[in-house]
Amino acid sequence: MSKVQVNDAEAPTKRRIAVLGAGRMGSALVLALLARGFAVTVWNRTASKCAPLAAKGARVAGSVEDAVSGSDVIIGNVSDYPTSLELVQPPAVTKALRERLFVQLATGTPRQAKEMAGWAREHQIHYLDGAIMATPEFIGTEGGHILYSGPKELFEANQPVFAALGGHVYVGANVGHASTLDASLLIVLWGSLFGALQGAALSEAEDYPVDEFASSLEATMPVLTSAVLSTLKRIDKRRFEADESTFSSVETCYASARLIHQMNEEHGLHRGLTEALDKIFRHVTDAGHAQSDVAALYLAIAAARGANPANPANP
Ligand SMILES: NC(=O)c1ccc[n+]([C@@H]2O[C@H](COP(=O)([O-])OP(=O)(O)OC[C@H]3O[C@@H](n4cnc5c(N)ncnc54)[C@H](OP(=O)(O)O)[C@@H]3O)[C@@H](O)[C@H]2O)c1
Repeated sequence: MSKVQVNDAEAPTKRRIAVLGAGRMGSALVLALLARGFAVTVWNRTASKCAPLAAKGARVAGSVEDAVSGSDVIIGNVSDYPTSLELVQPPAVTKALRERLFVQLATGTPRQAKEMAGWAREHQIHYLDGAIMATPEFIGTEGGHILYSGPKELFEANQPVFAALGGHVYVGANVGHASTLDASLLIVLWGSLFGALQGAALSEAEDYPVDEFASSLEATMPVLTSAVLSTLKRIDKRRFEADESTFSSVETCYASARLIHQMNEEHGLHRGLTEALDKIFRHVTDAGHAQSDVAALYLAIAAARGANPANPANP
């Protein structure tokens, strides 16, 4: 994976860009491109959303075909892949896209990315897949990371466009990998967020101020980050047995998770999160890993791969 800085001082190019979708994110993409001097055409199902973009210099297309045919790079940013596919599948649009670059920036799964890339290949359309790791206000800034995957030459040839949108990261030639990384990073965000929600509820239930919980959490972040990263290193190296660098065993962590579950029950809080943890801890303990490094919890999650309900390893 290679990161390219946004401040590449790219000169505006003559490349004409179309953005399909002027929702919150699509509008931010259009504005960032206009700010870097690109000629931008925008199309949106609800045309009125294009008015503020037209006021900033965007051309508003009357149809998807109109947007595509006047552009070199077409960026898709409607709500999801099926919607995006619906927009580009009419024969006239597909024909207009031939030999042009379509960059899909809706959020999706690796499978959807591969299917869309397959469709594009079939119709001689150049295709890159992308995943936006930012909220609209960060687009066009270095903090507005967008992940891209697909043919490297397409990524490199269009860097001025991607630089205009923010911090652009090439994830690799496997077209599904932008979505893969997006999902892997997002689930860490969700896990942390759910942990914080549960922590806030436990604090409040015990009359402990949530703002003090927040300050302590901030102070603990370096320890948390280190624990998470060392666990990932162990997974990568398949070092699940406890050793000299093990900071905690499955058994020790399970005991503390059970205490949290108990507190949760005493206060009648939602069981969803603590029950989910209990299920995974139990699975790994029953499989004989109580004394293993806590990274061995991964074995329960990965054992369910394939989501085969008949799989006895599925917890
Ligand atoms: N907002 C974020 O912070 C953020 C961050 C990362 C990724 N993303 C991704 O960016 C994409 C767009 O998100 P958003 O926040 O911009 O959502 P949004 O504000 O709800 O906009 C959705 C867009 O999809 C269009 N759309 C929906 N259904 C359609 C249909 N059947 N036919 C044609 N157009 C249709 C909407 O058109 P209308 O205006 O006509 O309804 C609008 O342009 C999503 O995949 C989202 O996951 C967003």
